[in-house]
Amino acid sequence: MARRKKIYEGKAKILYEGPEPGTIVQYFKDDATAFNAEKKAVIEGKGVLNNRLSEFFMTGLGQIGVPTHFIKRLNMREQLVRSVEIIPLEVIVRNYAAGSMSKRLGIEEGTQLPRPIVEYCYKDDALGDPLVTEEHIAAFGWASQQDMDDILSLALRVNDFLSGVMLAVGIRLVDFKIEVGRVYEGDFMRLLLADEISPDSCRLWDIETGQKLDKDVFRRDLGNLADAYTEVARRLGVLPKTNTAVKKPTLIN
Ligand code: TMP
Ligand code: ASP
Repeated sequence: MARRKKIYEGKAKILYEGPEPGTIVQYFKDDATAFNAEKKAVIEGKGVLNNRLSEFFMTGLGQIGVPTHFIKRLNMREQLVRSVEIIPLEVIVRNYAAGSMSKRLGIEEGTQLPRPIVEYCYKDDALGDPLVTEEHIAAFGWASQQDMDDILSLALRVNDFLSGVMLAVGIRLVDFKIEVGRVYEGDFMRLLLADEISPDSCRLWDIETGQKLDKDVFRRDLGNLADAYTEVARRLGVLPKTNTAVKKPTLIN
């Protein structure tokens, strides 16, 4: 079979030309990186889990009317998505202090924030994705004021949806990152949720134990990353509940 044309290779995904114009095949790799790729590993099975989990979240968001790039999952590691022009921002929503916010502002990790806080980073690996303000975004023309209004309300809708879905399975959504893209339809431009939503780009803590179920397990050497992601997928019903040993038949009285 003729190999598809590779459009872009990132740290965790590869994008290939899709079967029809305006589509892209998004391939999830097993590679994990942290600290701007200073730390690297291959985590067997991570790509398969993230493909499934991103499908699950994007489908649910689509069902409540959040526009996303997701079209359909193709196989274990690939999904068909709409081709978008990515806005060069990482949009971070935080419900509890953690990670770089805790460091920057000296707030203990796990402290509940007075309300969800949205932050923007400029997507540039060479610069380490620096935090920027809406002033930078407007002045440098990365997004218009209308785009920013739409991005803020999209991010908060995603936050409400994901927080609820996670809460229902005993997981606290501490924070997450999304990316937004543009599609052009005739004279109109629309924004879509793009990239992925997976434990690579969220902080997820067990509500009871505080156990981390996201990429911090890898960043901070806290155990087996694939086990953590499998636990998230299992709780959400994304994986079959019993995929291990076949049980002996038991007598039913
Ligand atoms: P941070 O505390 O390191 O700024 O991360 C905030 C959230 O954004 C966390 O859920 C991890 C996610 N994130 C990414 O998905 N990609 C990134 O490059 C970074 C720095 C964070
Ligand atoms: N910035 C990403 C993270 O830490 C990956 C990386 O930096 O290599 O989640």
